[in-house]
Amino acid sequence: MRAVDIIIKKRDKGELTREEIEFFINGFVSGDVPDYQASAFAMAVVLNGMTPRETTDLTIAMAHSGQILDLSDAVDIAVDKHSSGGVGDKTTLTVLPTVAACGLSVGKMSGRGLGFSGGTLDKLESIPGYRVDLTTEEFKRQLKEKGVVLTGQSLDLAPADGKMYALRDVTGTVQSIPLIASSIMCKKIAAGAQAIVLDVKTGLGAFMETLDEARILANLMVDIGKLAGREVVALLSDMNQPLGCAVGNSLEVVEAIDTLKGGGPADFREHCLHVSAHMLILGKRAKTLKEGRRMAEKAIADGSAFEKFRVLVQAQGGDVSYVDNVSKFPRAKFVEVVASPRNGSVSQVQARSVGEAAVTLGAGRAKKSDPVDHSVGFVLHKKVGDRVEPGEPLFTVHANDEAKLAEAREKVLGAYSFSDTDVPPLPLFYD
Ligand code: URA
Repeated sequence: MRAVDIIIKKRDKGELTREEIEFFINGFVSGDVPDYQASAFAMAVVLNGMTPRETTDLTIAMAHSGQILDLSDAVDIAVDKHSSGGVGDKTTLTVLPTVAACGLSVGKMSGRGLGFSGGTLDKLESIPGYRVDLTTEEFKRQLKEKGVVLTGQSLDLAPADGKMYALRDVTGTVQSIPLIASSIMCKKIAAGAQAIVLDVKTGLGAFMETLDEARILANLMVDIGKLAGREVVALLSDMNQPLGCAVGNSLEVVEAIDTLKGGGPADFREHCLHVSAHMLILGKRAKTLKEGRRMAEKAIADGSAFEKFRVLVQAQGGDVSYVDNVSKFPRAKFVEVVASPRNGSVSQVQARSVGEAAVTLGAGRAKKSDPVDHSVGFVLHKKVGDRVEPGEPLFTVHANDEAKLAEAREKVLGAYSFSDTDVPPLPLFYD
């Protein structure tokens, strides 16, 4: 078999066999298949798709490209969550400590930014010292001792996805149902999750723009999970506008901390409570959504969710004084409040444009080797449904470069649309 023939077959809309997929993935991990062939393969899949059978084979091949974790000696039930990616999505930072504070030990391996969508690891690295490279042994020990772990994908877990993810980020090959489904599910399977909450985003700032596409992705992932013997719940959530108000690494960490302390934007808090409730049900700590939600609310209200976040940061070497005093996070050189150009109701805050503008500022990567600037981004003051007067603050830009600030400001101004009549707020969940 030759990698090039597999690429050609997919380029010509052929259906790959399990053996061909395994050959390609194993070769990619061993280094026999170079990055340029893997990128061409990814593009062929983006353009021509895969059948559910091919996607399942790709998922299993990627999951088995490394170790499969067994967490049974660390937790009674391994529950995980995963978002399909979006703008301002800092849900994991709030949900993980919240459910851990409710007595459900959770360990998660998160990813970096992907295209215009932010990544939990990049956000966490805003906290000086925070380690995202725990070994599998460290992961298990911390899960057992502290009940909460949030780290990067260790090199021995689904390494095929680790390599492919970094390539897709910079080769225009993110938007693809089979690639997203296999990327998410291979990690969950490899990381030993027995039950998984999938937060599948839909809208202008999601990889799946339409509800129909998001539903196909969600169903496919649920099916793959079931085939692998896992219990899976998929939520379809809105990503037409950014989630919460902060977009950008340390700005999002600060918003997640605010939310853990009982504040934070209402939409983000509500989103976190709902995801937490589903995790608590899967983890058999709650019987109903109502009960799960009440437990999560209590953990936030009594400070135990925030305390779990401190425990997490400390356990992973992070400087917890930043968590206790968020004014310690370095502030960008230029902080500009942008005023609304008109009055009316906000009818759109195009999430993808905001995500792309954040990448322009340096919050994400244009090339694989690009460093991330943790201090830059936006805080939105008005979201869909809010009334605004001319001159009222619309959003704040945090930038370290004046030219980039100007470019990002125009892009985010262009992301806003207004209506003369009242606009209802966007739903948080569709299904
Ligand atoms: N999250 C992932 O882990 N992979 C994707 O491809 C998209 C979102």
